[in-house]
Amino acid sequence: MARIVLVGFMGAGKSTVGPLVADLLGWRFVDVDPRIEQETGLTVAEIFARHGEAHFRAEERRVARQLAHEDRVVVATGGGAFADAETREVLRRGAVVVWLRCDLETILGRVPDDGSRPLAANRERMRTLFAERESSYRLADVTVDAQAGGPGEVARLITQAVGGRGAGGAGDVDR
Ligand code: S3P
Repeated sequence: MARIVLVGFMGAGKSTVGPLVADLLGWRFVDVDPRIEQETGLTVAEIFARHGEAHFRAEERRVARQLAHEDRVVVATGGGAFADAETREVLRRGAVVVWLRCDLETILGRVPDDGSRPLAANRERMRTLFAERESSYRLADVTVDAQAGGPGEVARLITQAVGGRGAGGAGDVDR
Protein backbone atom coordinates (compact mmCIF):
# COMPACT_ATOMS: atom_id res chain seq x y z
CA MET A 1 0.00 0.00 0.00
CA ALA A 2 1.56 3.25 -1.13
CA ARG A 3 -1.23 5.62 -0.22
CA ILE A 4 -4.22 6.14 2.03
CA VAL A 5 -6.93 8.06 0.21
CA LEU A 6 -9.63 9.76 2.26
CA VAL A 7 -12.98 10.17 0.54
CA GLY A 8 -16.36 11.39 1.68
CA PHE A 9 -18.71 14.32 1.48
CA MET A 10 -17.79 17.97 2.05
CA GLY A 11 -17.36 18.61 5.76
CA ALA A 12 -16.61 14.99 6.69
CA GLY A 13 -13.21 16.08 8.03
CA LYS A 14 -10.86 14.71 5.34
CA SER A 15 -8.54 17.75 5.40
CA THR A 16 -8.56 17.96 9.21
CA VAL A 17 -7.98 14.30 9.93
CA GLY A 18 -5.61 13.60 7.01
CA PRO A 19 -2.54 15.39 8.48
CA LEU A 20 -3.09 13.58 11.79
CA VAL A 21 -3.15 10.20 10.04
CA ALA A 22 0.02 11.17 8.16
CA ASP A 23 1.73 12.13 11.46
CA LEU A 24 0.75 8.83 13.07
CA LEU A 25 2.30 6.90 10.17
CA GLY A 26 5.25 9.20 9.50
CA TRP A 27 3.92 9.76 5.97
CA ARG A 28 3.33 12.95 3.97
CA PHE A 29 -0.07 14.59 3.62
CA VAL A 30 -1.42 15.90 0.33
CA ASP A 31 -4.69 17.78 0.04
CA VAL A 32 -5.97 17.64 -3.54
CA ASP A 33 -7.87 20.95 -3.60
CA PRO A 34 -4.98 23.14 -2.34
CA ARG A 35 -2.69 21.36 -4.82
CA ILE A 36 -5.06 22.25 -7.65
CA GLU A 37 -5.16 25.83 -6.36
CA GLN A 38 -1.35 26.04 -6.20
CA GLU A 39 -0.87 24.60 -9.65
CA THR A 40 -3.55 26.64 -11.40
CA GLY A 41 -3.10 29.86 -9.41
CA LEU A 42 -6.88 29.94 -8.95
CA THR A 43 -9.10 29.09 -5.99
CA VAL A 44 -11.59 26.26 -6.35
CA ALA A 45 -14.39 28.85 -6.42
CA GLU A 46 -12.61 30.75 -9.22
CA ILE A 47 -12.15 27.58 -11.27
CA PHE A 48 -15.87 26.79 -10.99
CA ALA A 49 -16.87 30.37 -11.80
CA ARG A 50 -14.49 30.93 -14.72
CA HIS A 51 -14.22 27.48 -16.27
CA GLY A 52 -17.10 25.41 -14.90
CA GLU A 53 -17.35 22.24 -12.86
CA ALA A 54 -16.22 19.94 -15.70
CA HIS A 55 -12.90 21.78 -15.83
CA PHE A 56 -12.48 21.36 -12.08
CA ARG A 57 -13.16 17.61 -12.40
CA ALA A 58 -10.47 17.43 -15.09
CA GLU A 59 -8.04 19.10 -12.65
CA GLU A 60 -8.94 16.48 -10.03
CA ARG A 61 -8.20 13.71 -12.53
CA ARG A 62 -4.87 15.33 -13.40
CA VAL A 63 -3.79 15.56 -9.74
CA ALA A 64 -5.00 12.00 -9.05
CA ARG A 65 -2.68 10.80 -11.84
CA GLN A 66 0.24 12.73 -10.31
CA LEU A 67 -0.43 11.14 -6.94
CA ALA A 68 -0.31 7.67 -8.45
CA HIS A 69 3.48 8.21 -8.54
CA GLU A 70 3.80 9.30 -4.89
CA ASP A 71 4.43 6.86 -2.05
CA ARG A 72 3.82 6.94 1.70
CA VAL A 73 1.27 9.67 1.35
CA VAL A 74 -2.12 10.33 2.92
CA VAL A 75 -4.42 12.04 0.41
CA ALA A 76 -7.47 14.15 1.19
CA THR A 77 -9.77 14.36 -1.84
CA GLY A 78 -12.55 16.84 -2.53
CA GLY A 79 -16.05 15.49 -1.95
CA GLY A 80 -16.78 14.93 -5.64
CA ALA A 81 -13.51 13.30 -6.68
CA PHE A 82 -14.41 9.71 -5.86
CA ALA A 83 -17.77 10.09 -7.59
CA ASP A 84 -15.97 10.55 -10.93
CA ALA A 85 -15.38 7.07 -12.38
CA GLU A 86 -12.02 7.82 -13.96
CA THR A 87 -10.62 9.72 -10.97
CA ARG A 88 -11.88 6.94 -8.72
CA GLU A 89 -10.03 4.23 -10.62
CA VAL A 90 -6.79 6.21 -10.56
CA LEU A 91 -7.14 6.97 -6.84
CA ARG A 92 -7.79 3.33 -5.99
CA ARG A 93 -4.61 1.97 -7.56
CA GLY A 94 -2.05 1.06 -4.92
CA ALA A 95 -4.12 2.70 -2.21
CA VAL A 96 -6.39 1.84 0.64
CA VAL A 97 -9.41 4.09 0.26
CA VAL A 98 -11.15 5.20 3.44
CA TRP A 99 -14.67 6.63 3.45
CA LEU A 100 -15.14 9.14 6.25
CA ARG A 101 -18.83 8.65 6.76
CA CYS A 102 -20.81 11.49 8.27
CA ASP A 103 -24.53 12.16 8.40
CA LEU A 104 -26.08 14.90 6.29
CA GLU A 105 -27.44 17.01 9.13
CA THR A 106 -23.98 17.22 10.72
CA ILE A 107 -22.51 18.16 7.35
CA LEU A 108 -25.10 20.88 6.74
CA GLY A 109 -24.20 22.32 10.14
CA ARG A 110 -20.47 22.17 9.48
CA VAL A 111 -20.15 23.41 5.92
CA PRO A 112 -20.48 27.18 5.67
CA ASP A 113 -22.25 28.76 2.74
CA ASP A 114 -19.46 31.31 2.34
CA GLY A 115 -18.75 30.85 -1.35
CA SER A 116 -15.57 28.82 -0.81
CA ARG A 117 -17.40 25.62 -1.81
CA PRO A 118 -19.46 26.36 -4.92
CA LEU A 119 -21.66 23.28 -4.45
CA ALA A 120 -22.55 24.22 -0.87
CA ALA A 121 -24.44 27.37 -1.85
CA ASN A 122 -27.63 25.45 -2.49
CA ARG A 123 -28.68 23.26 0.43
CA GLU A 124 -31.19 21.28 -1.65
CA ARG A 125 -28.45 20.53 -4.16
CA MET A 126 -26.31 19.30 -1.27
CA ARG A 127 -29.04 16.88 -0.22
CA THR A 128 -29.29 15.53 -3.75
CA LEU A 129 -25.52 15.18 -4.13
CA PHE A 130 -25.26 13.47 -0.77
CA ALA A 131 -27.76 10.83 -1.86
CA GLU A 132 -26.22 10.46 -5.32
CA ARG A 133 -22.68 10.01 -4.10
CA GLU A 134 -23.26 7.42 -1.43
CA SER A 135 -22.97 4.52 -3.89
CA SER A 136 -19.53 5.78 -4.95
CA TYR A 137 -18.27 6.23 -1.39
CA ARG A 138 -19.39 2.67 -0.66
CA LEU A 139 -16.72 1.50 -3.10
CA ALA A 140 -14.08 2.52 -0.55
CA ASP A 141 -12.06 -0.29 1.02
CA VAL A 142 -12.95 0.69 4.56
CA THR A 143 -15.51 2.92 6.22
CA VAL A 144 -14.79 4.95 9.33
CA ASP A 145 -17.41 6.82 11.36
CA ALA A 146 -16.32 10.46 11.07
CA GLN A 147 -18.46 11.27 14.11
CA ALA A 148 -16.90 8.67 16.40
CA GLY A 149 -14.96 11.37 18.27
CA GLY A 150 -12.65 14.32 17.74
CA PRO A 151 -10.16 14.47 14.86
CA GLY A 152 -7.47 12.64 16.86
CA GLU A 153 -9.80 9.77 17.63
CA VAL A 154 -10.99 9.52 14.00
CA ALA A 155 -7.35 9.53 12.84
CA ARG A 156 -6.58 6.71 15.25
CA LEU A 157 -9.57 4.71 13.98
CA ILE A 158 -8.36 5.17 10.41
CA THR A 159 -4.85 3.91 11.14
CA GLN A 160 -6.37 0.98 13.02
CA ALA A 161 -8.74 0.11 10.17
CA VAL A 162 -6.05 0.48 7.55
CA GLY A 163 -3.56 -1.45 9.68
CA GLY A 164 -5.90 -4.40 9.46
CA ARG A 165 -5.57 -4.11 5.69
CA GLY A 166 -1.80 -4.20 5.69
CA ALA A 167 -0.59 -0.70 6.66
CA GLY A 168 3.05 -0.73 7.60
CA GLY A 169 3.68 -3.69 5.37
CA ALA A 170 4.36 -2.12 2.02
CA GLY A 171 2.96 -4.15 -0.80
CA ASP A 172 0.38 -5.94 1.30
CA VAL A 173 -2.43 -4.55 -0.77
CA ASP A 174 -1.72 -5.84 -4.21
CA ARG A 175 -3.98 -3.69 -6.28
C1 S3P B 1 -16.62 19.51 -3.82
C2 S3P B 1 -16.02 19.47 -2.60
C3 S3P B 1 -14.93 20.39 -2.21
C4 S3P B 1 -14.21 20.91 -3.45
C5 S3P B 1 -15.18 21.49 -4.44
C6 S3P B 1 -16.22 20.46 -4.90
C7 S3P B 1 -17.70 18.55 -4.12
O1 S3P B 1 -13.99 19.71 -1.37
O2 S3P B 1 -13.47 19.88 -4.06
O3 S3P B 1 -15.81 22.58 -3.82
O4 S3P B 1 -18.02 18.33 -5.30
O5 S3P B 1 -18.24 17.94 -3.16
P1 S3P B 1 -14.31 19.32 0.17
O6 S3P B 1 -14.93 17.96 0.17
O7 S3P B 1 -12.94 19.32 0.79
O8 S3P B 1 -15.19 20.38 0.73
